[in-house]
Amino acid sequence: MKLTKKSLVTGALIILFTMGVFIAGCAPQQSGSTDGSSDKGATGSGKSDADTPAVVVEWSPTVNCATCHETEESSLTNTKSAAGIHKTEGLECMDCHDDQAGLAKVHEKVEAGQATSKTLKKTKVKTETCTASGCHDNDAERIAATATFTGLTDTNGTTKNPHDLPQGDGHKSLSCSTCHQGHKTFVAEEVIDECYTCHHAQVFECGTCH
Ligand code: HEC
Ligand code: HEC
Ligand code: HEC
Ligand code: HEC
Ligand code: HEC
Repeated sequence: MKLTKKSLVTGALIILFTMGVFIAGCAPQQSGSTDGSSDKGATGSGKSDADTPAVVVEWSPTVNCATCHETEESSLTNTKSAAGIHKTEGLECMDCHDDQAGLAKVHEKVEAGQATSKTLKKTKVKTETCTASGCHDNDAERIAATATFTGLTDTNGTTKNPHDLPQGDGHKSLSCSTCHQGHKTFVAEEVIDECYTCHHAQVFECGTCH
């Protein structure tokens, strides 16, 4: 969460490692996102102009993320998104995206104007980041907060508390961000769709049919 000496050194190494470095803070997505669309500037921004040489942009945890990640930046004003809620608490990108080594690697060869990610592919926002001390470290409180939530009711009428799910192997891949996606409006009613990606018969019980 905090800027460590190590991270600064890592950042410096990345800078040395990449060729053709220039000062970040330029506006790499000027072309290709002029329509203000929310498709993360993917359209047409993946290529540089034919006669402009590709420019590798230096990355460090303190670089201005907004110059490239417009979509995620604009979600900070959406208080129905996790990022927006946390912004009001004074948290920034790197507080949630705390895998600095992973991010340094992801950005190693990033070029100005390159299309940004639509999903997290190489890094994660782990449950442990959310439940770190001083953050969401009280399980009982969280379970109590959603004790009367009825959005997770299957077609048999079985209701489950989203913060108190069975801890079997089948749920190993679930994390806070499975339901609380970072940059989208959180719609509690849609959470059950996640369940049904596995509970395909729209009942939470397993082993009753096969
Ligand atoms: C110069 C443009 C640029 C800047 C500045 C930048 N990024 Fe990125 N970022 C990218 C691109 C391009 C990708 C996609 C790389 C890929 O898919 O190989 C990316 C990918 C990511 C991802 C997805 C990682 C994954 O798991 O796939 C995250 C998270 C991210 N950036 C966070 C940040 C944060 C936080 C900052 C500011 C500290 C930042 N970026 C600054 C261009 C940038
Ligand atoms: C509240 C924690 C939080 C904050 C603050 C936050 N993110 Fe995220 N971000 C997430 C989560 C969680 C995901 C994964 C969403 C998913 O799995 O669908 C994500 C996904 C992403 C992705 C992948 C594409 C996408 O939109 O899903 C990028 C890129 C990214 N974040 C960049 C940023 C940048 C840049 C900032 C600061 C402007 C930022 N994030 C602030 C939690 C956060
Ligand atoms: C990644 C797949 C996956 C997702 C997503 C998933 N489950 Fe499950 N769930 C399983 C599997 C597999 C089992 C069988 C037991 C085990 O291996 O954990 C299970 C077991 C259960 C059980 C216990 C069933 C029994 O027979 O006692 C309940 C209740 C349950 N899930 C509810 C949910 C709810 C509610 C959600 C959505 C928030 C959800 N699950 C999302 C895979 C999943
Ligand atoms: C299975 C989906 C799911 C998972 C996984 C999940 N949540 Fe939630 N969470 C919800 C839902 C649904 C609500 C909203 C309930 C409502 O609207 O009343 C919620 C509400 C919250 C709230 C607001 C509670 C309040 O006081 O109003 C917080 C904070 C929260 N979750 C944090 C977390 C954290 C931290 C994790 C991971 C440790 C997590 N959640 C995992 C579904 C989930
Ligand atoms: C209400 C009954 C029912 C429940 C509960 C149920 N299934 Fe199924 N499942 C079926 C039926 C019926 C099929 C066969 C569908 C077909 O062949 O088109 C099937 C097929 C499957 C298949 C595909 C098998 C194959 O050979 O292609 C998988 C995987 C599967 N189920 C996983 C699960 C998991 C995991 C759970 C618990 C999370 C679960 N099912 C709960 C009824 C159920």
